[in-house]
Amino acid sequence: MMRLGTCYYPEHWPRDMWPDDARRMVEAGLSRVRIGEFAWSRIEPEPGRFEWGWLDDAIEVLHAAGLGVILGTPTATPPKWLCDRMPDMFAVDAEGKVRGFGSRRHYCFSHSGYRAEAARITQAMAERYGEHPAIVMWQTDNEYGCHDSVHSFSDSARDAFQVWLADRYGSVEALNAAWGNVFWSMEYRSFDAIELPNLTVTEANPSHWLAFRRFSSDQVISFDKAQVEIIRELSPGRDVMHNAMGFYPDYDHHDLGEQLDVVMWDSYPLGFLETFKFSEADKLAYVRQGHPDIAAFHHDLYRGCGKDGRWAVIEQQPGPVNWARNNPAPLPGMVRLWTLEAMAHGAELVSYFRWRQAPFAQEQMHAGLLRPDSEAAPGLEEAQQVAPEIEQLGDIGSPVKEVALVLSYTSEWVTATQPQGEGLSALWAAFHTYTALRAQGLNVDIVPPAASLDGYALVVLPCEPIVSDELVEKLKAFDDQIIIGPRSGSKTDDLTIPPNLAPGKLQALFEGKVTRSESLRAGTEHQGDGWAVRRWLDHLETDAEAELVAADGTVACWKQGNVRYCATWPEGDVIGEITARAADDAGLARIALPEGTRMRKSGKFTFVFNYRNEARSVPNTLSGEPVIGERSLSPAELAVFARD
Ligand code: GAL
Repeated sequence: MMRLGTCYYPEHWPRDMWPDDARRMVEAGLSRVRIGEFAWSRIEPEPGRFEWGWLDDAIEVLHAAGLGVILGTPTATPPKWLCDRMPDMFAVDAEGKVRGFGSRRHYCFSHSGYRAEAARITQAMAERYGEHPAIVMWQTDNEYGCHDSVHSFSDSARDAFQVWLADRYGSVEALNAAWGNVFWSMEYRSFDAIELPNLTVTEANPSHWLAFRRFSSDQVISFDKAQVEIIRELSPGRDVMHNAMGFYPDYDHHDLGEQLDVVMWDSYPLGFLETFKFSEADKLAYVRQGHPDIAAFHHDLYRGCGKDGRWAVIEQQPGPVNWARNNPAPLPGMVRLWTLEAMAHGAELVSYFRWRQAPFAQEQMHAGLLRPDSEAAPGLEEAQQVAPEIEQLGDIGSPVKEVALVLSYTSEWVTATQPQGEGLSALWAAFHTYTALRAQGLNVDIVPPAASLDGYALVVLPCEPIVSDELVEKLKAFDDQIIIGPRSGSKTDDLTIPPNLAPGKLQALFEGKVTRSESLRAGTEHQGDGWAVRRWLDHLETDAEAELVAADGTVACWKQGNVRYCATWPEGDVIGEITARAADDAGLARIALPEGTRMRKSGKFTFVFNYRNEARSVPNTLSGEPVIGERSLSPAELAVFARD
């Protein structure tokens, strides 16, 4: 059953405001409150001197009101006294500049002194509150990687990287061979001679970068693991989660999900629309709504990262944020729509960030559910409206499996290291493929390569340069439809070209060889019938059928049995066409959804959302009257239909 909550900072407000805040939270229909994740300087104002009184008190007040507390460890914000004691704990950026004190996330994941401090404060908090009845869950740290903080180029990182390399490769000769270090005389004679890949004259060896990205991700995972282990020991029966971000691939969230109970994420659709690479047309059309796939993409991604499919939104944008290039207010109704959409995708919690707007410091322009003067902000009313609707729907039933979209974090590390064409990214290939599928009314699960493919009718690999033997075996055994995207199977584990060329190991299911790949300048097009080849072209030697051929003979898609090879960048009309053909072959029911509307089926309901700032109607293929909403959808409206 989905719940609602909010993020609260009792340390920002006088003690006498807390009881009223707690009462109003409960009145609004909220039952969870996250606190503590940045409060280190108040918990331990001086080395070893703990001030628990205020936090004891805050937890009591929230508990007394009936709220379940999610307690964050404050390790994203090490206080000044701690930084002064070990100034080499700061992260260092790729240009070699120290990332100093005065905001947050200033630590280096590889600094052993800071790791010990993070474990110490986690231990102190878990000893104090581990068995407190108010505590229902823990959050480790806050947004690993925010502000580009996974990759640190410090001396501690270099030392730890050398140890990591020795462990992975065993001998420096093996490393030299795997990376091809004979090229440009880059051979090393010992692991301790290997530097980090920044500050080279021109690009460093891509194999070196990929190793560094893998290492950096592992550092995040082991940093987190230390906290998880302490909490598990001292706070039995409580779940542990971490809050992930939007469009953020620098650490492997599948690895993180393995050691957590729930994967949560922070959903800021308007901030993400402004910040990330959407077209100007989309930025204008969806300025107060967010692109219709931003939230859903991450819901479906993080559901696949959680061990048992458990996931939630721990920070939901309730009004304008402060950190994007422009920070508009959501259209009336969007906070409700985002909340119910999370529910439709199976969230166990939606928690609004934040309770009250702070009048001071970096985020003073960031809305909360309350204004700084404690009056209700517009988001509060929508949260109140949605609470009884969630009650009304109750259990939404199990997810309906249709399409599995395979996405590994390594794929993005490969394309980020070696894009080969401007802006070409595996993560964005996944996003655009997701959009194409979802615009046809299909349910998509974004799954790790290790996931089971049972129950799906269509499996898509938008762009997976490195594939494991296990994935190849599963795909060989999968007898429904498969789409393999460009660059898939094109690299070995160490980012070199496989001897049999692309798609490498995937030749076990698709007989063909990519003999040449080219990236195309934006604007270069090979027009087909309602679609075009753009941005990328793989030339193939194969007996497969040329299924989509442009007017000039360029082949966009090859087909062999149940497998299609998409030879161009999976974006826009061409991936729309290829996914439509594969969905039809798989017997999936596609629905031509009106522009800007999206659909999600659960075991018991079909949800239809209008993201457009114009009226839309529910497609006729969905019959009957909705249990929530109407068949005609005003902007930011939704309709929920019972499924038989
Ligand atoms: C998140 C972060 C919060 C707050 C919020 C503002 O990235 O976890 O602490 O900064 O953004 O939108």
